[in-house]
Amino acid sequence: MLDPVRWINSEGKILDACEDNVKLLPGKLRLIDQTKLPETLLYMETDDLEEIFDAIKRLVVRGAPAIGCAAALGLAAVSQNITTASRGDFIKKMKKNSTRLAESRPTAVNLFWALERCVSKVENSKISDVCELKLCLLREALSILEEDIKMCRSIGEHGSRLLKDGMGILTHCNAGALATGDYGTALSPVYVAHSRGVKLKVYSDETRPLLQGSRLTAWELGKAGVDVVTICDNMAAQVMKEGLVNIVIVGADRVAANGDAANKIGTYGVAILAKYHKIPFYVAIPYSTIDLAIPDGSKIPIEQRDGDEIRRGFGRQTAPPDVKVYNPAFDVTPNSLISGIITEKGILRPPYHEKIMEIFRKA
Ligand code: MRU
Repeated sequence: MLDPVRWINSEGKILDACEDNVKLLPGKLRLIDQTKLPETLLYMETDDLEEIFDAIKRLVVRGAPAIGCAAALGLAAVSQNITTASRGDFIKKMKKNSTRLAESRPTAVNLFWALERCVSKVENSKISDVCELKLCLLREALSILEEDIKMCRSIGEHGSRLLKDGMGILTHCNAGALATGDYGTALSPVYVAHSRGVKLKVYSDETRPLLQGSRLTAWELGKAGVDVVTICDNMAAQVMKEGLVNIVIVGADRVAANGDAANKIGTYGVAILAKYHKIPFYVAIPYSTIDLAIPDGSKIPIEQRDGDEIRRGFGRQTAPPDVKVYNPAFDVTPNSLISGIITEKGILRPPYHEKIMEIFRKA
């Protein structure tokens, strides 16, 4: 059963900041079930560890910052139900919950970052009362969501300076509101510019095999009144050749210390196409997506997903049922193809390693 804690933010107010994607209800984590979009806007509510694990693994909630927020809030929701009066026992059980959630997906570093932050906050506190420990965990998880919302807005402000009236923007996968607690990363500059009357056209790569571009990016931009055109992934070269794309902006799941960026499979190809067509290619990320422990992109763990995502695409048999399939969920774009990294503190330019180290030294 729940303790008499309120779902509060760091100022002591009940949190109701995020209307949609990842939200905390009293005692429960609420998520949009993104696997059902765009046909149905369905929410799931849970405080069950295995349901939250499964939601992250099956991409009910996805996108690096959203995964981090969902894991933190999920850990807080699940851990409210731990029944013990002992600090040591509570921490042991909370860490077990955290370890399980960390096994859900390997590439987005925000997952590990958010869980680690919550666990450390509780462990490093001097609190002995278990109700107070639960509140401490809850506060930290809510801070992660609040910071995510602020981060999105700042990325939007910095990135929107790159956007001018009439521009065509190509994006890959979904790095918008559905991938974060708020405006998104790659799409945030678009939302900010759009809100100021700048006329833009977004080309949204369909993003095979799970179609985050056509199902999610097109859906959320359309709802916001942004002019969006969905293209199949193999059309990007032609669209660029026709001069329709002035800038590419994508998100990332993990950025290495040298600026190499892992993002949805296909991003690397888009970056090569952009270079060939002399189109600037930007990656938009919060600092929490930078992994200093990873020196370069070759060390980023790449998730391998079930072959049936390819054998059975579009809800039907799209390949022989027994055909061998290779299905990496992400690829790594080398820093040499990246014109700039848009962060909540400004736009980083090469050489990235020095700039990244400087940021962390100052933090
Ligand atoms: O497999 P997904 O849908 O979780 O992949 C998401 C992406 O590749 C996003 O571009 C990335 O996480 C950045 S989200 C702001």
